[in-house]
Amino acid sequence: MLLRGMIPTAVALALGSASFVSVAGAQAQGTTPPAAPEASGTGSAAGQVPPAAAEQAPAAAGQQQAPAPGQAPAAAAPAQPAAGGQAAAAREGVTNEDGKYYTADGDPTYNIAEDGTVDWYTFSGFRRYHAECHVCHGPEGLGSSYAPSLVNSLKTMEYSTFLEVVTNGRLHVDASNQNVMPAFGTNPNVMCYIDDLYIYLEARAKGGLKPGRPAKREDKPEAAIEAENACMGG
Ligand code: HEC
Repeated sequence: MLLRGMIPTAVALALGSASFVSVAGAQAQGTTPPAAPEASGTGSAAGQVPPAAAEQAPAAAGQQQAPAPGQAPAAAAPAQPAAGGQAAAAREGVTNEDGKYYTADGDPTYNIAEDGTVDWYTFSGFRRYHAECHVCHGPEGLGSSYAPSLVNSLKTMEYSTFLEVVTNGRLHVDASNQNVMPAFGTNPNVMCYIDDLYIYLEARAKGGLKPGRPAKREDKPEAAIEAENACMGG
């Protein structure tokens, strides 16, 4: 409950706060992340370049991509129960408020109906993910040799941790590693849709959401239109 009110505030703070700007700036001076996020599709920059493989179209349904080197095979295995199985059953304590679903703890979450219809935010997150994140994290959240599988991460990662990492970024530098998770705290194309991204990835990690553009979705809720206008316009 509490979180719900806090999210827009957190986003507004992130977008307006000088400290986030400086975090992003400090990282940019450091190891030069591959010109994210505008570079989606071109993947340039000296130093680390996201693998070209990440730009390939997602594998056709039923045809799994070979796991990238270093990825646990489990990350790419289609082991989730299909929608129609237990994933489709109404989940304990999940409530629907204006087309957005929440766990009993007040965290945003996905909804997949018995006929495979996904909630708006899962659908929106699918699109946002493939605009902003897939160039490093691979199509469908399956990971690449550059960045970890978020389908794997979201099996255990808390919502609050997800927010923190995406807002502030993360640096992982050692002898063999210079991979950078950019700070997105000042990027409205990410921060205004941060719940959508989380919800989509959670649906992939826990809800058995199959790869590919969800065929059936709920209509865009009025609340989503209002929140988007307020976040992008204000
Ligand atoms: C420029 C490449 C790049 C882009 C673009 C990028 N990431 Fe990352 N991300 C990384 C790398 C590299 C790591 C691993 C950092 C580390 O090892 O600490 C990472 C880590 C993460 C983690 C932590 C995973 C874990 O298991 O701890 C999350 C969550 C995450 N990214 C979310 C996102 C989201 C959401 C987007 C899109 C808005 C995104 N990333 C875009 C490179 C990227």
